[in-house]
Amino acid sequence: MAKKLWDKNSNINPEIERFTVGLDRELDLLLARYDILGSIAHSTMLESIGMLTRDEMNMLHEELRNIYAVAERGEFVIEEGVEDVHSQVELMLTRKLGDTGKKIHSGRSRNDQVLLDLKLFTRKEVQDVCKAVKELFDTLIEQSNNHKDILMPGYTHLQVAMPSSFGLWFGAYAESLADDMLFLQAAYNMCNRNPLGSAAGYGSSFPLNRTMTTELLGFDSMNYNVVYAQMGRGKCERNIAYALASVAGTLAKMAFDACMFNSQNFGFITLPAECTTGSSIMPHKKNPDVFELLRAKCNRLQALPTDIIMIMNNLPTGYFRDLQIIKELFLPAFTELKDCIKMATYIIERIEVNKNILDDKRYDLMFSVEEVNRLASNGVPFRDAYKQVGLAIEAGTFEADKNIRHTHEGSIGNLYNDHIKEYMYSIYYSMDFEKAIKAERTLLNA
Ligand code: ARG
Repeated sequence: MAKKLWDKNSNINPEIERFTVGLDRELDLLLARYDILGSIAHSTMLESIGMLTRDEMNMLHEELRNIYAVAERGEFVIEEGVEDVHSQVELMLTRKLGDTGKKIHSGRSRNDQVLLDLKLFTRKEVQDVCKAVKELFDTLIEQSNNHKDILMPGYTHLQVAMPSSFGLWFGAYAESLADDMLFLQAAYNMCNRNPLGSAAGYGSSFPLNRTMTTELLGFDSMNYNVVYAQMGRGKCERNIAYALASVAGTLAKMAFDACMFNSQNFGFITLPAECTTGSSIMPHKKNPDVFELLRAKCNRLQALPTDIIMIMNNLPTGYFRDLQIIKELFLPAFTELKDCIKMATYIIERIEVNKNILDDKRYDLMFSVEEVNRLASNGVPFRDAYKQVGLAIEAGTFEADKNIRHTHEGSIGNLYNDHIKEYMYSIYYSMDFEKAIKAERTLLNA
């Protein structure tokens, strides 16, 4: 039996087949459930425009829901000789329903099918990433509030510079995640528009009802122009990748800080013992491997937008098989990032903070600016105060007064964590995931 949708009784060279199918038979498994959802919506629409009878539609829906259940159990397979998920689902329908199965491809192409699958997949994955980011954010804010009075040195050029605090350190990463959430939101909104009906990239002569599939699939709107809808392949992935890279950047930086602060030469924090690993030769070692791996993975994720750009950037209008390769980079990125966020949350919750860092004399000089400011507040011109303190330091007579008062917005004594939280929550809670979730549920249960 011919298993290629495009088979016209010619011979297929197995080497060429291996090369063109690539990793699709494996990677497309991640898209299976979304391909089926798309087919339920598409066949509903075909019935509404008279391309399928009510009975045909019902039979298709029943069988598609059966296949969905198979995919949900993790038992969906793309058979040997079948090119991709789209072909596999059509093959299964045709085996079961004969000619009715063969009708479902009217008015669409694998080009808009894969566009749709990718968007539905991405929508769900971004929802999960946002939830994970929000959890890490809440943990960081809590740790910031819990440690707001514990001072630590702040550095510039990795030189001891000015007093900082664990309240500031934890809170800084929380606020960074809030900005990352803004990227996720924009990318999500851009992704949440329906490409179905663009077919091969130029629409169809069937009177498709794209408004209907847009509503059935719970999209915010459609990609109106069919040529633009196809152009979204690669662009959507790239923009989502920017957002993922933004989160990854925050995590990688935090991981570096944590590894450094955990080193004996700093001794600012202790990572939970279970998150460290030993050495095969040095019996005393507790290495921060989890954060090191997380850092490397997150650094690699920051290359994702560039990797995607290298594949899609110089293509003219229309579909090209090049786009298939993007799936190899893009699809696994979500699991990778979610894994890193979860690890980071676990560690941050359990991190131990050294409360007596500043007892060490080596940090005394970071109070020099405090002294200058004290003099300046009492009327000494800043430059003169600076000179006076500088000379005292040179003469070895500077005495650090560690009672500091930082009161302005966002400073040690006034973290403004409520404002940071408000900023994050206003972004997070304005994202309407429910509409998409409900639409998909309805398609499966109607
Ligand atoms: N596996 C293909 C992809 O990811 C599906 C679309 C195939 N379309 C085509 N015209 N060959 O792009």
